[in-house]
Amino acid sequence: MKITLSAIKADIGSIGGHLRPSEGLLARVAEHVAREGKALLDRYVVFTGDDITILMVHNLGEGNEKIHRLAWEAFRAGTEAAKAEGLYGTGQDLLKEAFSGNVRGLGPAAAELEFEERPNEPFLLFMADKTEPGAYNLPLYLAFADPMYCPGLMLSPSMREGFSFNIMDVSYTEGDRVIKLHAPEELYDIACLLRDNERFVVESIHSRTTGEQAVACSTTRLHNIAGKYTGKDDPIMIVRVQSQFPATGEVLAPFEIGHYVGGFMRGSHHGPLMPVRKGSTVSYFDGPPIVSCLAFCVHEGKLTEPVDAFDHPFWDWVRDKVAQKAAELRRQGFSGPAMLGYGELEYGGITERMRRLEGRFVVRGLHPERV
Ligand code: F6R
Ligand code: MG
Ligand code: MG
Repeated sequence: MKITLSAIKADIGSIGGHLRPSEGLLARVAEHVAREGKALLDRYVVFTGDDITILMVHNLGEGNEKIHRLAWEAFRAGTEAAKAEGLYGTGQDLLKEAFSGNVRGLGPAAAELEFEERPNEPFLLFMADKTEPGAYNLPLYLAFADPMYCPGLMLSPSMREGFSFNIMDVSYTEGDRVIKLHAPEELYDIACLLRDNERFVVESIHSRTTGEQAVACSTTRLHNIAGKYTGKDDPIMIVRVQSQFPATGEVLAPFEIGHYVGGFMRGSHHGPLMPVRKGSTVSYFDGPPIVSCLAFCVHEGKLTEPVDAFDHPFWDWVRDKVAQKAAELRRQGFSGPAMLGYGELEYGGITERMRRLEGRFVVRGLHPERV
């Protein structure tokens, strides 16, 4: 049976700042999807930090207008509920008034994957908050291209040929600028791009052995849509696992690093990515950047209940370690790598100050040979 998984997420309001949506808001979104989602085979609504994700199973394919409209309308209805409750930042990610066939370019982020269901079909739904789509670059590289993290690349004949990476240049705004690179032959080229999380983002990954798609990531850049800061791009991702794909544990393993990503306070800092339990809020310095992971099986379009993949004593140790990494970098405040580079700073305040200071610079001791 051919099915499509569509995960669409948006921040439409939260309690106490940008921490988490209210139960009332979540219930409103879930109720809308349940009532209007006649075309769905199954659904699941969940939050991470201040973002709500609607996971939908259907057989209408990727980018389907009906499915996107359903999510858009659910977020619209949720926004009304959030306003009525007096939540903060209501409708924050709904950047346009009118729906135009697809949520792309309207604010919400989408990760969608259409495939022929295997007899048993395990997959992972990742949701991150207070960070950017490039946050998944390193974990995906390590899970799909590095035998140090994914021994399946050596051990499993069904992964012998490696994987191909579709990588998007998210700084290009006139269309989708995408390159396809093949692991393992082009590993160094892949690394050259994926080191730059702000510009190059993994969009999808396919098995070179079977041709099947394993990964779909959201690549939305809110800044590019709105032309100003309206919140970080808090990415979601679907990863099919096991058998011809990396095992769940191989995909989770790189998240032990707690690598530094862009985001955190005011979307303008670096912080380590902390793997958290389902339904976690953010806190310290509006962070740290967090990622949650729900593991499902889907069978004939029906979802099992999820397993909370980061709810295990091992990840408590990781969280302690990541908290230390966060505090260590935070101690140097605005200095050097603690904040993002000039081009990635949000709110426009620093650019404005720099403009004002420009005229107050004086040039002393001109070098005669350069005049
Ligand atoms: C980052 C984020 C928060 C806000 C900060 C200020 O993605 O959502 O760190 O940037 O709390 O929020 P405002 O501008 O709404 O007062
Ligand atoms: Mg968010
Ligand atoms: Mg937000």
